[in-house]
Amino acid sequence: MANNEDHFKKVISHAKEYGYIFGSSEIYDGLSAVYDYAQNGAELKKNIREYWWRSMVYMHQNIVGIDAAILMHPTTWKASGHVDAFNDPLIDNKDSKKRYRADVLIEDYCAKIETKIEKEVKKAQKRFGDAFNKEEFISTNPRVLGYQEKINVILQRMGKSLENEDLADVKALIEELEIADPISGSKNWTDVKQFNLMFGTKLGASAETATDLYLRPETAQGIFVNFANVQKTGRMKIPFGIAQTGKAFRNEIVARQFIFRMREFEQMEMQFFVRPGEEMKWYEYWKETRLNWHKSLGMGAENYRFHDHEKLAHYANAAADIEFKFPFGFKELEGIHSRTDFDLKAHEEHSGKKLQFFDPQMNESYVPYVVETSIGLDRMFLAIFSKSLQEETLGDGSTRTVLKLPSILAPVKAAVFPLVKKDGLPEVARKIIENLQWDFNVIYDEKDAVGKRYRRQDAAGTPFCITVDHQTLEDQTVTIRHRDTMEQERIPISGISEKMKDSISYQKWLA
Ligand code: GAP
Repeated sequence: MANNEDHFKKVISHAKEYGYIFGSSEIYDGLSAVYDYAQNGAELKKNIREYWWRSMVYMHQNIVGIDAAILMHPTTWKASGHVDAFNDPLIDNKDSKKRYRADVLIEDYCAKIETKIEKEVKKAQKRFGDAFNKEEFISTNPRVLGYQEKINVILQRMGKSLENEDLADVKALIEELEIADPISGSKNWTDVKQFNLMFGTKLGASAETATDLYLRPETAQGIFVNFANVQKTGRMKIPFGIAQTGKAFRNEIVARQFIFRMREFEQMEMQFFVRPGEEMKWYEYWKETRLNWHKSLGMGAENYRFHDHEKLAHYANAAADIEFKFPFGFKELEGIHSRTDFDLKAHEEHSGKKLQFFDPQMNESYVPYVVETSIGLDRMFLAIFSKSLQEETLGDGSTRTVLKLPSILAPVKAAVFPLVKKDGLPEVARKIIENLQWDFNVIYDEKDAVGKRYRRQDAAGTPFCITVDHQTLEDQTVTIRHRDTMEQERIPISGISEKMKDSISYQKWLA
């Protein structure tokens, strides 16, 4: 792809053209930062969710999954701290009238310094060739060290100011760094103000008796309030986890970058309950386990990195992001947070109910500590989709657009074609579909020349194309074409299912 910006535009248009993502209520000109998943998008999303659920729930004997309601008792959000502290620090530019997250402006400034580091590394790599040692260069080159030090100082100061609610200092930092409005270039800023991100709604028929509710801004609280229920009914012993996937809502002010930051999105979260004092061990364990899960999908290890938080959320004593290299740079994909006993304790205080575990080995009851893993399903979708979309130049100089989705996640696993629409070939193709559809999502396609059909399926992300031709009528064999290599093999109809299972099995991918 020409450059990252062009690639990102291509991702958005491709997602629409191939039935993955549409803007919400598009016939009314859409709703900002809200999207609908179309026929292929819904499948890809479901498959990512399933891949996560299986690895979390089926592959861990001490993790169970639940599905809590989106609407919760309003005290939940008082206890969790979201009513008082789920805020974004916002700043307006007086000239452009545009609103920004103050911390994002500062982080973007630091990202620019990071680009300078990358440039230094590239330059040195060119100069030293094979003898180049990147780690050593980064840890000794004075210019790189200077840049890194500058980033550290800025982020530390921002983290401290935000933690102390010193918003005047956040503004001062923006002014000292001479950060300008990215659109107008103006440096004429208002003060920084906090803005709560929760969507409110009402329960009840009349205005006088209605109760104010919130749409949940994270799925995690549905797990915390069910801690005792699940622990008792599932006879769970510490350490154990509760997993959940579901919608969350945030009134994001600076919603942008397609499905990266949405107002209605889906999370896949797991809260892991541990003995107090053992949380850092589990925090490290889950950091590594989650990174390995990402790597299992083959998107390239170099496209992931950890980012340890300077500014901790109100509930955490350690936090890190797994960042992914999106078309617009490295950004947060998943968070791993050591949440201490903050949530369970707060719910104990507000509800008056005990949320404790009796530990037979220690012979005492305690409020467990929590390590959570939290990933946005839509963001994971964007990561996979944007990395899989490729433009390839072939041996004969022609190009093809191919969506190299991991086969385990692909919406349609195989397309079955009759070579021509006559001579009984369509009937054989439909019979093959009837057999395969028990195990796989497969489709039939007879329109256009076979070459064109291959290209259409390449662009849609279908890993296999199965073609029925005249030879099939004689010897019951078909050609199976592989999307990524474009190789074709002749195999018996009776062997298709096995061949596909070889490539599309959870064991193969997750192990
Ligand atoms: N329970 C912890 C929690 O919610 P978070 O870092 O606010 O932590 C977790 O969110 C993940 O949810 C993020 O890493 C991101 O993938 C996803 N996420 C958060 N806000 C989002 C948004 N507005 N749109 C899409 N995904 C979002």
